[in-house]
Amino acid sequence: MIIIKHIDKIEEILAQKKSNGKTIGFVPTMGALHAGHISLIEKSKSENDFTVCSIFVNPTQFNNAIDLQKYPITIEKDIDQLELAVCDILFLPSTAEMYVEGEKNEHYNLGMLETILEGKYRPGHFQGVCIIVDKLLKAVNPNTLYLGEKDYQQCMVIKKMMASKNYDVVLKVCETVRENDELAMSSRNIRLNKNERIAALKIIETLKFIKSEIKPGKLDKIKSTATNLLTENGYKVDYTEIADAETLELIDYWDGDKKLVALVAAYLNDIRLIDNLIL
Ligand code: PAJ
Repeated sequence: MIIIKHIDKIEEILAQKKSNGKTIGFVPTMGALHAGHISLIEKSKSENDFTVCSIFVNPTQFNNAIDLQKYPITIEKDIDQLELAVCDILFLPSTAEMYVEGEKNEHYNLGMLETILEGKYRPGHFQGVCIIVDKLLKAVNPNTLYLGEKDYQQCMVIKKMMASKNYDVVLKVCETVRENDELAMSSRNIRLNKNERIAALKIIETLKFIKSEIKPGKLDKIKSTATNLLTENGYKVDYTEIADAETLELIDYWDGDKKLVALVAAYLNDIRLIDNLIL
């Protein structure tokens, strides 16, 4: 695997590959890699001539300074995992490389996606995600971008940003990879202690509860019961919501027909966990 740290270098190498008719798959990450990330690399490898992974802990998407400070950094292990997965290129830029001093950040029109769910509870987060993914897409210029369904709203936000900028890039959203007990894999799971790791299972249990109990009609009762399931188990809940799976419009009354997704974000002590389930 080649490790590249500079934008001009990665642009040069990948432009050459593309002009030779090779296809490029791209997996952006913030490192602390786990099997969920590696599943995206494998998917890209199975569909492209070259696979590029980026690792960059992007400061502009952290609305909370402590969360950024505590974000796990495991670069040596990450490189080992990428080598094992036979990833072709790791793009590993510095903050100065991605954020040139004095440069003004772009602002993206994300509509209601920015005011609900993650957008509501993490103000500015999706602007930061768009800023960095836009810069990374310009540098890598892939044929296909691979994202995880674990970050359901992020996929929609990036899709909207790519459409507004007319990117000629196919977006593939890949299934959430889970531990044996079905906890969604996440870089933040490293921070869970033994008791928190057990309690973390309540998130997927709550989503499954919604999936099994949902009926056409008003949804306020099922949402509040689901929230209680989490608070009873020591969580501080940001949201337990049910939304249109295509648009993410929040749904209070279900016609029994529309495809829905249930989404949860909640804190176990200071660790914020998110997950979702198509209903
Ligand atoms: P990060 O949290 O490192 O995730 C990188 C990619 O891996 C995202 O597309 C995410 O949805 C996917 N992913 C995470 N956990 C997964 C799981 N259990 N199963 C499948 N895919 C999973 O998301 C980001 O980084 C950043 O916001 C980024 C897009 C890189 C921009 O900075």
